Amino acid sequence: MRKNIVAGNWKMNNDLAQTESLIADLKKQSKTTNAEVMVAPTFTNLYKAFEALQGTDIEVVAQNMHFAKNGAYTGEISASMLKSVGVKTVILGHSERREYFNETDELLAKKVDAALANEMRVIFCFGEELADRKSGNEENIVGNQIKNALFHLKAWDYKNIVLAYEPVWAIGTGETASPEQAQDMHAFIRKTIADQYGYEIANDVSILYGGSVKPANAVEIFSKPDVDGGLIGGAALNADDFFAIVNAF
Ligand code: PGA
Repeated sequence: MRKNIVAGNWKMNNDLAQTESLIADLKKQSKTTNAEVMVAPTFTNLYKAFEALQGTDIEVVAQNMHFAKNGAYTGEISASMLKSVGVKTVILGHSERREYFNETDELLAKKVDAALANEMRVIFCFGEELADRKSGNEENIVGNQIKNALFHLKAWDYKNIVLAYEPVWAIGTGETASPEQAQDMHAFIRKTIADQYGYEIANDVSILYGGSVKPANAVEIFSKPDVDGGLIGGAALNADDFFAIVNAF
């Protein structure tokens, strides 16, 4: 079933004490919507966050992982390591991973496979750059990112896939896609999935929007029929702002 989801991506922010303090603030908030809520602290704080949020309905998710089971991959983290500290969902393909760490569609396909093989849920991110949008090439770029990393999957795998459309030009820039731009692209994404797997699968997949979502614009963006939630960066670092977004549905 398609769900509303709001996920906070804390990126490389918050040491242990700051993580504990943000979690304490989050626990004071109340949720007035049916949205699933997730937060993604950095690796070193995942276990502490998992312990601190046990018994709440906020899920702790990871920002990245490696595709291999284990072995000589210095500095990397595997799916089973994440699972061993309570993490069941991982964000893959964030544009910062693609841009600064050269993550390609081919690599991401392997990461998606590893996560699914470990029965984890994937929040798969993709989105065009400003030049692509200016040249009217955004659907082509987004369509290929989805095809290259996800079209080898079986239909039933999609119960563990959440899609996150994040136009690169809107991430951390204060510039948001207009609700209409978001809706148009989300409808295109759903059609792309439907053309390959049928509408039964496509209508069940949650498609999140990410890129400068704030309390002030969340209601309008989330009111669009194909927008099923948000992946929130900057505004997720403040509990009041984050819950104002969660409660925007
Ligand atoms: P932002 O980041 O909300 O700060 O634009 C979104 C993201 O990168 O997921």
